[in-house]
Amino acid sequence: MITQHGLGYDMALVLKNCKTFYRGKIRCVDIASDYGKIIGIGKRISGTEVINCKGLLVFPGLIDVHVHFRVPGAEHKEDWKHGSRAALHGGITCVLDMPNNNPQILDEKSLLEKKKIVEKDACVDYGLYLGASAKINSLGEGLSKQIAGIKLYMSSASGELLATGKIQKMAFERAFRMRKVVAVHAEDEDRIRDNEKKFKDKGISIHHKIRDDTCEAIAIEKVLSSAKSTSAFLHVCHISSKMSLEKIKPFLKSGKVSCGVTPHHLFLTEKDVAKIGNKAKVNPSIKTKKDRSALWAALKASYIKVIESDHAPHTLEEKNADYEIAPSGLPGVETLLPLMLNAYNKGFISLKRIFECCCQNPAKIFGIKNKGSIDFGKDADFCIVNLKRKQEIKSEGLFSKCGWSAFEGWKLTGCVEKTILRGVLCYDSGSIVDSKKGLDVFGGD
Ligand code: DOR
Ligand code: ZN
Repeated sequence: MITQHGLGYDMALVLKNCKTFYRGKIRCVDIASDYGKIIGIGKRISGTEVINCKGLLVFPGLIDVHVHFRVPGAEHKEDWKHGSRAALHGGITCVLDMPNNNPQILDEKSLLEKKKIVEKDACVDYGLYLGASAKINSLGEGLSKQIAGIKLYMSSASGELLATGKIQKMAFERAFRMRKVVAVHAEDEDRIRDNEKKFKDKGISIHHKIRDDTCEAIAIEKVLSSAKSTSAFLHVCHISSKMSLEKIKPFLKSGKVSCGVTPHHLFLTEKDVAKIGNKAKVNPSIKTKKDRSALWAALKASYIKVIESDHAPHTLEEKNADYEIAPSGLPGVETLLPLMLNAYNKGFISLKRIFECCCQNPAKIFGIKNKGSIDFGKDADFCIVNLKRKQEIKSEGLFSKCGWSAFEGWKLTGCVEKTILRGVLCYDSGSIVDSKKGLDVFGGD
């Protein structure tokens, strides 16, 4: 039953005639909010500020559990002013930011210093990861209140955050005590080094052979065994191959393991990478058509629980260097949802699955209590989409500081019209129209 608000005054903001996800179904309701929280869901609610959502679909603000907003240390690639506006453009109201900064975020001091900078510029809500390192056991217990989770790099993907076997074990034990998720970049460093020796003529077209499916699967096997022995929750980031999915599937039933996928692994193959060039150089590598099909099947079957952007911008100049020098990573926070809406329009995925993987599951897995669903008392974060509006991805229309996309020129059906953060309309039809100070969703004090 849909409950009606029983309050005798006009709500501050009312979204009228919303087709939205409410208690397991898509329903047509009005949603009222005040002081940044949802306080009414029902029919014929009046308000001081009204947005008519007739013909549109309303998601809870999306949560992207994997971004690199590059602060501190690489502000020439991205910063929170640009990154968080790019998130709003993509319908995302909460991001979890990675620790491979300069300095790396490995202890309370570096975390709090990062937070000081982030809180000045963030205009979406956020959480910050701690990187797993040898320091992990000497950190105070209070740290658990400040972090989104622990990020563990099993290869030297970017920065030198490579975690050895001993550090991996400590990270899982610590995460279990802190009740935090260990988010893992799973690629086996030794296998990468061996593969590098095999291929003399390196180039973008063999990136997926150097960082092959076995390389990911070996790392996943190792990390699954650490997770199992400690009972900590493991989230395997950006899964990219059929082989890895097969390794992980038997463990999903435990409820202590999840995996995420990125749009670039869902929409591109190694053949596209060869055409796009270094802009599509990313780790884990983008693999074959067979792998891509397996990812879509796993996404549909709910084996994959999260869609994450791994927004990892670099400048064009950096990407224009030779293959061996060009850094890995590509931007994606503002193209994630448009690409998924287009996939919905093509019949590849249901709206319910997009909602689960971009809103509900990220909130559940990472323990973000006030977000990820539309219900009483939740944050009034909304992403209003027009499923029929066509758009083309053009670098001029993007908000990320890096100013390019590997999906440049893609023509999509489905578009984010408006993004609302805690009751404030921040993004509307191509422009940032207002901003609200982003808050750390893990409290921190
Ligand atoms: O391609 C990547 N780029 N993979 C990562 O794991 C890190 C990222 C970056 O920070 O640039
Ligand atoms: Zn990443």
